[in-house]
Amino acid sequence: MEIQWYPGHMTKAMRQMSEDMKLIDLVIELVDARVPVSGRNPDLEKLGKGKARLLLLNKSDLSDARENERWKKYFQEQGLQTVLLDAQKNHGMAEIKAAIQIACAEKIERDRRRGIKNRPVRAMVVGIPNVGKSTFINSFAKKAVTKTGNKPGVTKGKQWIRLNPTLELLDTPGVLWPKFEDKTVGLHLAMIGTINDEILQTEELAMECIAFLKQEYAGKLKERYEVAEDQENHVVLLGIAERLGCLKKGGEADLTRAAKLLIEDLRSGRLGRISIEKVPN
Ligand code: G4P
Repeated sequence: MEIQWYPGHMTKAMRQMSEDMKLIDLVIELVDARVPVSGRNPDLEKLGKGKARLLLLNKSDLSDARENERWKKYFQEQGLQTVLLDAQKNHGMAEIKAAIQIACAEKIERDRRRGIKNRPVRAMVVGIPNVGKSTFINSFAKKAVTKTGNKPGVTKGKQWIRLNPTLELLDTPGVLWPKFEDKTVGLHLAMIGTINDEILQTEELAMECIAFLKQEYAGKLKERYEVAEDQENHVVLLGIAERLGCLKKGGEADLTRAAKLLIEDLRSGRLGRISIEKVPN
């Protein structure tokens, strides 16, 4: 499946982010816990060079609990402070405060040696569209400070939010665009809904989802839609259409509608907690 998607405003956003980087001590990177590889943008390494870093594996309520722990360990072993987060339900916030202190220990110590007292850590939240940046900022600040919406990258305005005497947050998150050079990356991001559905071939994506689920989460499709999984992918999709009553006027199965419902079930967690990418062995 080929996914062509390259927003024109990316260069401008990158320039803006590199300007904002000059103002901050700490980069808080949000990554979708279901795709911890494809959901990261390698440019951040360069952009955030020399800054303290914190990695938040968000939407961890939607990913496999066991994989979550493995990913956390994997990144921690690479020296990245990592916290599992559910920004929607506010789970993980206390741990984040502690992790910020650890991530910024060097800066705090440097300030102390220079005789600077109580200078707050200044942080910026970054991540790809729809990962939950606005939701996180709002939850962390405990009030609505930025607009959240279901259209990727709609957040506007710019201000510092003083969270407490030790931490200030730039209210505008830095939007990073994923890299699509690799086909698998595009597919995985389509599966979680990073990419606008208008530009996707729904049935083709549904077929990919079926193939993935059959392979990695055997039994899930059968459990939810009562379809036999040991059939060709398109036959499984047909079975889902029949089961969900997706029919066109003449009584023919509406595969596009079934595909949409399946994709939505996968993205929303109705098929259960699913990790699309697993820690390499
Ligand atoms: P962004 O700023 O990075 O673009 O993302 P934003 O906060 O707008 O969040 C995108 C969607 O992801 C929102 O759903 C938001 O509620 C949801 N979300 C954020 N964090 C989490 C999380 O930890 N777990 C889960 N399950 N969902 C999360 P939406 O469909 O746009 O709106 P709504 O469902 O909140 O109405």
